[in-house]
Amino acid sequence: MFSSDWDKFSQLTYETNFGERPHGDIRRLDIATISPFDVLCAGFPCQPFSLAGVSKKNSLGRKHGFEDLKQGNLFFSIRDILKDRRPAAFVLENVKHLYRHDGGNTYKVIYDILANELQYDVHTAIIDAQAVVPQHRERMFIVGFREPRFFEFPEFPMSGPKLGSILDKEVDAKYTLSNHLWKYLQDYAKKHKAAGNGFGFSVFTNNDIARTLSARYHKDGSEILISQGSRKNPRRLTPRECARLMGYPSNFKIPVSDTQAYRQFGNSVVVPVVAKIAKQVVATLSRPVDYKPDFVLTPPETRKRGMIALALPLGYLKISKKTRRLRREPL
Ligand SMILES: C[S@@+](CC[C@H](N)C(=O)[O-])C[C@H]1O[C@@H](n2cnc3c(N)ncnc32)[C@H](O)[C@@H]1O
Repeated sequence: MFSSDWDKFSQLTYETNFGERPHGDIRRLDIATISPFDVLCAGFPCQPFSLAGVSKKNSLGRKHGFEDLKQGNLFFSIRDILKDRRPAAFVLENVKHLYRHDGGNTYKVIYDILANELQYDVHTAIIDAQAVVPQHRERMFIVGFREPRFFEFPEFPMSGPKLGSILDKEVDAKYTLSNHLWKYLQDYAKKHKAAGNGFGFSVFTNNDIARTLSARYHKDGSEILISQGSRKNPRRLTPRECARLMGYPSNFKIPVSDTQAYRQFGNSVVVPVVAKIAKQVVATLSRPVDYKPDFVLTPPETRKRGMIALALPLGYLKISKKTRRLRREPL
């Protein structure tokens, strides 16, 4: 299986667990060297395509022409691979706000390329991982098929596990916040609360669901602190707890420092969420292209539970005619 990540610590984690070192910079890849594959999966950075993005960068002293920016955008590497190899399907993951990033232009460019230029049958949903792990983490998933097919995103339960299910009972004292950092976070939060800027940190207990783990968690851990009662400062999650928070199995090896591990888990997809989507994609591909269900188990109104059908600005949420016909026919 081909994989790519240019971060050497991410490569080490991947290789330790899967026995294969990922390819480096995806922009310098000879596409012809990728072995045959049926499904392309990618979690890529959310970067602007527009000139507005360029001028912002220029104002920070970076000289970019529009073409440079286009070349530098990792989505174009994904486009080039799809264009060249035309796999049967793809699964792309990004932040929930992709669809309103850069005034909606980023998603518009992505959708136009996938659906119009490459002619894939595109399905989009926002899924909150809290159905399967104790973390509120909304991510956009874009699934595409080379041929229009009947496809439904999997259903997710309305509520899932609580933090108590992933926390260790005994945790090294080094994860407890120092008096200095704890005071700093509280003072900072007070200042910002007074200015009406919301919370600076969040403390959780066993019965809660965590906020989204970010790649910056290693800095101060302030987004997810664990209460240790009133007599002790709160603590951070350990890397192993972060692994569980992202749905990794207990035998997943963590061969890197705490800092790198926090970065990698904060950047990751939630394993059971993508596993469920992948299962559905495989089931879809294993049916005849013109398959039409006799009945649908999940009428649209109940699908809103764990998954929000995405209301995108009109104009570029075009479902191919064939798909629309399949979906609208009386059951
Ligand atoms: C949001 S993370 C996604 C991680 C992982 N693919 C996943 O979905 O769980 C984006 C990743 O892209 C990698 N990356 C950024 N620029 C890259 C490039 N030019 N070539 C390969 N990987 C790159 C980063 O190192 C980072 O790990």
